[in-house]
Amino acid sequence: MKKLMILAAACGVLTALPAAAQFQKPEDAVKYRKASFTVMGTHFARIGAMAQGRVPFDGAAAAANADIVVTLSKLPFAGFVEGTGGTEKGMPNAKVWSEKAKFDAAGKKMQDEVVKLAAAAKTNNLDQLKSAFGAAAGTCKACHDDFRNQ
Ligand code: HEC
Repeated sequence: MKKLMILAAACGVLTALPAAAQFQKPEDAVKYRKASFTVMGTHFARIGAMAQGRVPFDGAAAAANADIVVTLSKLPFAGFVEGTGGTEKGMPNAKVWSEKAKFDAAGKKMQDEVVKLAAAAKTNNLDQLKSAFGAAAGTCKACHDDFRNQ
């Protein structure tokens, strides 16, 4: 067991520790959450382009993108280390930490909706994809409206 823990520490796999302890510096946490949102947003937008008819519908591509979104949707939250909010436009506001239960619930809602999006993508039915995309996009907007500086 001890050996395993040393191994885990050496690999940086310290998942049992609080989020702050997983990053060397607060800036690393900020970079990490932004990077995960950026990659998630990129793949989400590719599905959106199909849902909105800007690119031809391709069920397999939608499903592949949705699987990436599902995985990425789990990542940003470890990066919300206390004290890393800001006042600039687009930055997390103080409510992320003062209303943490609400923030976490908004994150969970997104995670649930993108799982439904992935299921919808796998039906290869554009109407189902459109409706699941709309529901998932609503969870992005709701959280951004509440928890990012406008
Ligand atoms: C639970 C709240 C929450 C949800 C849900 C959420 N976001 Fe965000 N998002 C944020 C916050 C807070 C920031 C600002 C992060 C920062 O600047 O450190 C952000 C930033 C971003 C960014 C900008 C990243 C950067 O480099 O500055 C993108 C892109 C993004 N989100 C996309 C999405 C998409 C797409 C969804 C839905 C599939 C989504 N977000 C859902 C809270 C959320």
